[in-house]
Amino acid sequence: MKLRCVNCKREYSTEEIVYTCKACGSVLEVVLDIDSIELSREDLRKRPFNLWRYREFMPIKGDSIVTLNEGGTPLYNAKRLAEEIGVKELYIKNEGANPTGSFKDRGMTVGVTKALELNAKAVGCASTGNTSASLAAYAAKAGIKCYVLLPAGKIALGKLAQAILHGAKVIGIKGNFDVALKLIREASERFNIYLLNSVNPFRLEGQKSEAFEIVDQLNFEVPDRVVVPMGNCGNISAIWKGFKEFKEAGLIDELPMMTGIQASGASPVVKAFKKGKKEIEPEENPETIATAIRIGKPVNAPKALKALYESNGYAESVSDEEIIEAQKLLARREGIGVEPASATSIAGLKKLVEQGVVDKDERIVCVVTGHALKDPEIVFKAYEKPVEIEPDIKELSKYL
Ligand code: F0G
Repeated sequence: MKLRCVNCKREYSTEEIVYTCKACGSVLEVVLDIDSIELSREDLRKRPFNLWRYREFMPIKGDSIVTLNEGGTPLYNAKRLAEEIGVKELYIKNEGANPTGSFKDRGMTVGVTKALELNAKAVGCASTGNTSASLAAYAAKAGIKCYVLLPAGKIALGKLAQAILHGAKVIGIKGNFDVALKLIREASERFNIYLLNSVNPFRLEGQKSEAFEIVDQLNFEVPDRVVVPMGNCGNISAIWKGFKEFKEAGLIDELPMMTGIQASGASPVVKAFKKGKKEIEPEENPETIATAIRIGKPVNAPKALKALYESNGYAESVSDEEIIEAQKLLARREGIGVEPASATSIAGLKKLVEQGVVDKDERIVCVVTGHALKDPEIVFKAYEKPVEIEPDIKELSKYL
């Protein structure tokens, strides 16, 4: 097991605390010895269905794991939504079903376990909300200090409440996520705080389990396409890595087309993809109703673009109106409540089907990343208001 720069390929030990390449500044990835993993589909099936079913693929040596029983989330066959969008087979991977209500828990079980292995006394992150909620919970479980930097006034209520509830030191920053991330990166070096943003390669190792579970749940058949919301772009990169490792281990034969969706007000990766570029032009003032992905300088953009190109995938952006419309569709056709950022995968798929980019015969998985209760305020802002009446049957009958 080692760390390797995705750009210049320089290698580092996994015992060293290093987040980006000292030579070229690019992001790092964990490289595992996949050949040494001997696992059959049957072996896997005998184990409980959660992230740690895939233990051999996780870069953790010891047995003391910080876990809240993350992963094992439902994959729904969304027949009503498929019909509405006009595709044959559509599945929803509902990451809102994780312990703190988002996919971030997959990264944090590995990341915080690694923090303990490295003897860290404190962990920290910048966040648009979910990362901080998750880190706060896992740090509480591990018994270590937690510092979170949040763009002041731009965090959905549920997420902020979680970070406070679990006892993190919550610090609002007068600036956006990109500014907060720059600051915590500097602080992590100066004050010996183990950084658990997705620039930390160990976190993505946990998140790659989304790919493992998807194929496991589809009886080891690989979907044609996996659609993922993109913010800081760790998740799409992690999922792609997961598919590739399962193929390398001989557990699957094919790979899906990775399709990343951003909000149009924060879409540097989509713009770069459409121009065929390998690097993004950062956006200084990202803006979207989907606050979770209100990010203009995604640190994992190089990995995400690689995933899109390598997998023969696609990238698209969606407007705030399209996001709310998709959130409503998913909630009202399938009974799945998600926060706005999560609905981008649905909105993006709908758009790509309309554009003819996605074939109607494809087998598609949309990843939805966070629970609706993370951001209850958006419902009161963007949806119809409940009525209030006198407790009288005549009054009531007007509405029935
Ligand atoms: N969906 C939700 C609900 C998120 O919270 C995030 C990221 C994403 C999608 C995008 O994932 O960054 O891996 O591309 N939230 C981070 C946070 C930035 O701080 O909670 P990504």
